[in-house]
Amino acid sequence: DLGKRIKIRAGVQSRDQLVHICGWVHRLRSQKGLIFLVLRDGTGYLQCVLSGEAAKTYDALTLTLESSVEVVGTIKALPEGKSAPDNHELAVSWWTCVGKAPGGDEAFSNRVAETAELSSLADSRHLVIRGETASAVLKVRAAVLQGFRAEFEDQGILEVTPPCMVQTQVEGGSTLFKFDYYGQEAFLTQSSQLYLETCLPALGDVFCVQESFRAEKSHTRRHLSEYTHLEAELGFLTFEDLLAHLEQLICGTIDRVLAQPTSSSLIQQLNPDFKAPSRPFKRMDYKDAIAWLNEHDIKTDEGEDHKVGDDIAEAAERKMTDAIGVPIFLTGFPREIKAFYMKRIPGDEGFTESVDVLMPGVGEIVGGSMRMSGSQELLDAYKHEGIDAKPYHWYTDQRKYGTCEHGGYGLGVERFLAWLTNRYTVREASLYPRYTGRCQP
Ligand code: 4AD
Ligand code: MG
Repeated sequence: DLGKRIKIRAGVQSRDQLVHICGWVHRLRSQKGLIFLVLRDGTGYLQCVLSGEAAKTYDALTLTLESSVEVVGTIKALPEGKSAPDNHELAVSWWTCVGKAPGGDEAFSNRVAETAELSSLADSRHLVIRGETASAVLKVRAAVLQGFRAEFEDQGILEVTPPCMVQTQVEGGSTLFKFDYYGQEAFLTQSSQLYLETCLPALGDVFCVQESFRAEKSHTRRHLSEYTHLEAELGFLTFEDLLAHLEQLICGTIDRVLAQPTSSSLIQQLNPDFKAPSRPFKRMDYKDAIAWLNEHDIKTDEGEDHKVGDDIAEAAERKMTDAIGVPIFLTGFPREIKAFYMKRIPGDEGFTESVDVLMPGVGEIVGGSMRMSGSQELLDAYKHEGIDAKPYHWYTDQRKYGTCEHGGYGLGVERFLAWLTNRYTVREASLYPRYTGRCQP
């Protein structure tokens, strides 16, 4: 009798019954003729004890970390004073080793890998993700994506899947990855925004969770070449509506993730100081941000004072956000430093109805705006940007066939996670991060 096959997270409900569990040896020690192994199966950790003859067999004595095993036995609550995951342990009555790991080899020990040099960490990512920290971040990532989707579902916003292979740019030609598409030039998408805009009259408000690609030359803590881009587009709304929606999306998702015991305890473990942001978010106009930077003596990358019209570089943005210490809606960027499609502020045409959401520790996690709704101003904007309007005919048509005031945004999932789980770089929030010089494993 092999007992009932369960996952480790069902252990508490299955105490005192014969159960059958499959997993990997996460920790291993022997003590006074007993072998203690902590088993891992993705849903949790379970201490198992081999005793008596079972602890003296060749297989038991040569067992190694990261080997895969099957165990059968009964889970018993631990008495006071002893500790193990979930305060219980499984007394093994039968077990077998399914796949023995080499052991000894440092690369095969996730504890070693988690503290190793950066480049070898990256080469060993497939083993590093077995570790407690890396797997905790990835579990929070899953909970966050679920939370976002639940928020959108609550608001009746539909999920779509736009293409990754495209022939139009969205955020400037300099970061496009180009490839040969049956003899034609094509790109990996930088943003699905233009496609989402075309969905409004077809499906109403829409969102997508799609990979975006940027040939970033910069080696920074927050730039990846491939990242998961959560984007939404909303019709018949004002800039104020867009900001209110963003606040709800972020706070609603955080509330959902924290309401779930597993993800809430993982966040507590990764980021003990995390506090859910309070509403309303601080608002700051771009021009006031420039003044703030100068008042606080924060210089441009070239070491100069900031002027209205300048882009706010990553370092300055981070210093400002960290000093202010709460989420910020930074609004009203100059048109010259922003993308071609952004709506101008009526009466202040050099500036746009745009917003970046800035979070302490990371800086920009969201970029959004209202879009131009008229054909002619869009055609002028292509020209100004040096974009050939022809391949954009379908995007321009959006203004011809029943235009409306609309807006949307893109949220970098890895940046959101770096903020939520207090990671030093976005690389830790990606399963297999891609950045300058790294496209494997
Ligand atoms: O600010 P961005 O470039 O805006 C857009 O792409 C818009 N078309 C989105 C839209 O309105 N639908 O990118 C949006 C967000 C940034 O705020 C950042 O969080 C993330 O995408 N992002 C990156 N994350 C990781 N690595 C990179 N190289 C990123 N570039 C942008
Ligand atoms: Mg941006």
